[in-house]
Amino acid sequence: MRATGADRAGGLKLGPGGTGRRIGLVITAALMAGAASAAALSGADAAKDRQTHMKELGKAMKTIVDQLHSGSPDVGQIKLAAATIDKDAKALPSWFPDGSGPSTGVKMKALPVVWTDKTDFAAKAHTFQIAAAKFDAAAQTGQASAYMPALKEVGGACKACHEKFRTKDED
Ligand code: HEC
Repeated sequence: MRATGADRAGGLKLGPGGTGRRIGLVITAALMAGAASAAALSGADAAKDRQTHMKELGKAMKTIVDQLHSGSPDVGQIKLAAATIDKDAKALPSWFPDGSGPSTGVKMKALPVVWTDKTDFAAKAHTFQIAAAKFDAAAQTGQASAYMPALKEVGGACKACHEKFRTKDED
C-alpha cells in the first residue's frame, strides 16, 4: 500500500497497514519499554525486599538465641519469633524472582547460582520450610525441650543455603 500524505504526516487516517498499524507499533513499543523498565524496577525492589526479609529472619533467630541464653526466657517472644520464621520460610521462594539477581545493580550477597541452580535452591528452601514448620509447632507448646532439636534443624537449614547461595563477605 502506498503511504498517503496523512500517513507521512503522522495523521490519524486509519487505513489497513497505514497509520493504524503504525499506531499499533508505537503502542507495542511503548508497552514493551514499560514492561522492561517495570521488570528492572521490580527486580531491584524484589532484591531490597528480600534483604529486609532476611534481616527479619536474622533478627528472629537472634531473639530466640538471646532468650534461650537469658536466665529467664520470654516464652511469648520465642513463640512470636518462631511464627515469623515459619511464615518467612513459606514465603522465601518468592523473594528470589528472575531478574532480582546481581544484574539489578543492587548490592547483594546473593550469588548468581541462586538463579542457575534453581533445583537445589528450591530443595534447600524446602528443607528450611519443613524445619521451620516443625519448630513453630513445637515452640508454641512453650517447652524448650520440645523445640530445641527443631531449632537446630532450622539453624542448619539457614547455614546450608548460605554456604552455597550467599557470598562469604561479612559487611
Ligand atoms: C534457601 C536459601 C536460604 C535460606 C534457607 C536462608 N537464607 Fe538467608 N540468605 C539467602 C541468600 C541468597 C541471601 C543473600 C540475599 C541478598 O543479598 O540479596 C541471604 C541473606 C541473609 C541475611 C543478610 C541480609 C542482608 O542483606 O544483610 C541474613 C541475616 C540471613 N540471610 C538470615 C537467614 C536466617 C537466620 C535464615 C534461617 C532462619 C536464613 N537466612 C535462611 C538464602 C537463604
